[in-house]
Amino acid sequence: MKGRLLADILKGKKLLLIIGGGIAAYKCLDLIRRLKERGVNVQAILTKGGEQFVTPLSVSSLSENKVYQELFSLTDEAEMGHIRLSRENDLILVAPATADLMAKMASGIADNLATTTLLATDKPVMIAPTMNSQMWGHAATQSNLSVLKERGTLVIPPADGDLACGEVGTGRLAEVPDMIKEIEAFFLSSRASSPLMGKNITVTAGPTHEAIDPVRYIANHSSGKQGYAIAAALSARGANVTLISGPTALSAPDGVEKVAVISARDMMDETAKSLPADAVICVAAVADWYVDGTPDQKIKKQNGALPELNLIENPDILKSISNHESQRPPLVIGFAAETENVINYAKTKLAKKGCDWILANDISGDVMGGDDNQVHLITAEAEDTWPHSSKIDVAKKLTEHIEEYFKDSE
Ligand code: CTP
Repeated sequence: MKGRLLADILKGKKLLLIIGGGIAAYKCLDLIRRLKERGVNVQAILTKGGEQFVTPLSVSSLSENKVYQELFSLTDEAEMGHIRLSRENDLILVAPATADLMAKMASGIADNLATTTLLATDKPVMIAPTMNSQMWGHAATQSNLSVLKERGTLVIPPADGDLACGEVGTGRLAEVPDMIKEIEAFFLSSRASSPLMGKNITVTAGPTHEAIDPVRYIANHSSGKQGYAIAAALSARGANVTLISGPTALSAPDGVEKVAVISARDMMDETAKSLPADAVICVAAVADWYVDGTPDQKIKKQNGALPELNLIENPDILKSISNHESQRPPLVIGFAAETENVINYAKTKLAKKGCDWILANDISGDVMGGDDNQVHLITAEAEDTWPHSSKIDVAKKLTEHIEEYFKDSE
């Protein structure tokens, strides 16, 4: 079955948890554990109020990430902590969301790291309010709630029951399984509304190996990480992804159909077989040549005489898909791995191959095999330099661009 299972919907997601000051803050510790079990990367901001109920050490131990506390911490602000935190996560969850935090959010007050981050974010925000039932029912809180809802803030409603103040009423922080359900529902619905839902996308990845004889081959340093990350990000948005991969140490991302190949010629055949497709993304570092007439037996050394290798150029997969006569996909994307003159060479490649977009990357450092990448998106009309980031974030950003493309073409 293509597509992801409900159980996997949270895998690889990034969540920023803002822990407000309420006695129920202790539930956040269990929430972090349950989210981590589901493969979520949790970062946390602990407000001054939150610190009264849980310790930074317990939050950082469970989240396995640094805990952010002070707006004017020199180290955090040297890296523009609030801006970065507000942008690099898929969802911000405020739990417990106190009456005070809700009021500040509704009025746009930015007087600490949590509120500044909430004002600076361009990501969806979800709140899980908790307070005394009188405070919850107060016209001021209800008016703030309406303002927040109108602006798109998602709300995990407080539950009824015994409150910490000894009263009974509405105002208990939702239970952890209910919060998890709401978070899953959010990611499911945003995935269901993605224009990538049901689109067929082929991704080539990894190196190819070109046999010299039964024991030796020509290869390169590609790890496949960038291509696999792209396949995972597209699949997470509902695309049916066929990942045609040369030899790598990686396993297929959840929900992705992997077709393992060895040589460039096999990769060409499998890519052609995957047509028709809505998009083809050639990330593979395809070997440029194969050896003609590989012998059946191992080549032996011959008293210093060098073996003759007759090299033949491999088929250019990207070029042939871009120029396919009958089944040219609407969107074809290539990579340009360069060690110098990156943008100019990439522009030439875009024209030469006939694809729609090229992601140009400078591979003179440790990009091949490493976890980070620095790319420039080149199209016929524009070029855009993306910040140096992880291959996973490059994949997510590319996925957002592809979503925009399909949204506009609908
Ligand atoms: N590509 C391909 N088939 C090939 C060679 C390259 O599909 N036989 C694709 C790669 O997957 C990448 C793009 O073409 O998307 C550019 O690959 P790159 O290695 O940078 O360029 P080459 O075409 O090999 O050209 P050169 O080695 O001269 O830079």
